Amino acid sequence: MTEHIKIEKSDGILTLTMARADKKNALSNVMYGALADAIEGAETDKSVRVLVIRGEGDMFTAGNDVGEFAAIATGAFQGERHVGRFLQSLAHSSRPIVAAVQGRAVGVGTTMLLHCDLVVLAENALLTTPFVNLALVPEAASSLLMPLRIGYARAFEMFALGEAVDAKSALAWGIANRVVPLDRLDAEAQALAQRLAKQPAGAVSTTKRLMRNPELLMAQIKTESEQFAARLKTMEAREAFTAFAERRPPDFLKLAAS
Ligand code: COA
Repeated sequence: MTEHIKIEKSDGILTLTMARADKKNALSNVMYGALADAIEGAETDKSVRVLVIRGEGDMFTAGNDVGEFAAIATGAFQGERHVGRFLQSLAHSSRPIVAAVQGRAVGVGTTMLLHCDLVVLAENALLTTPFVNLALVPEAASSLLMPLRIGYARAFEMFALGEAVDAKSALAWGIANRVVPLDRLDAEAQALAQRLAKQPAGAVSTTKRLMRNPELLMAQIKTESEQFAARLKTMEAREAFTAFAERRPPDFLKLAAS
């Protein structure tokens, strides 16, 4: 349990809210755990027909807690990590998932959208996947899903240069279903969720299962996770996390090319 994930259920819709606005909804290990528990729990809760994911405050999420990345890299973080279970729950969810995104969606904030079934963006949404900027690699099967969704050229630019994608482009490229004014974001996401909730649930989940392949996604996540874990321990990553903590740009040129 964490106060940083709020969970509400009404009319067949389970709404999961990232609620750590003072840290831009940066996702901590406990937050991943709470999200995973809720998404896994929904699988066996017959009263849940649709999931909605949203974030409090001015942005959807600043992505993984960078302080925790640094703690993992130095070995200071011990214990069970829940991010894998969160990704697994997303990849396996039979319930349709609607996302409501305002402001920035960084890292996993963007890659989780590829596992959502309807994505509503506020006009100010800005999607970034700066894994390489942090000396890391794409995760959440995004190294497979992103090029499939938007094409290799755009995906590589997003990943390798950390290029931001605005709401208009995200809509045009097929990452999102709708772009709405910020003050209509939640209403639009809830309206779509309500429409989905009224559909025959068995046909919706079977359609989703036909369109997605959890086994393939999990195999990609495993391969990515191995590379991700190895990259976390590199000098490049140490420089990236130290630079974040010191609020300065990283200097990768002092490190040799491998
Ligand atoms: N992990 C941990 N803390 C984070 C965070 C993250 N991913 N993103 C933001 N925060 C914290 C900041 O350290 C700051 O904490 P403080 O008030 O104690 O100093 C607070 O949230 C507000 O962030 P700030 O950077 O002041 O907000 P901003 O609006 O100027 O910038 C971002 C927002 C998202 C552009 C910027 O915070 C950022 O680049 N964050 C890192 C994103 C990232 O690399 N995520 C991992 C992707 S793989």
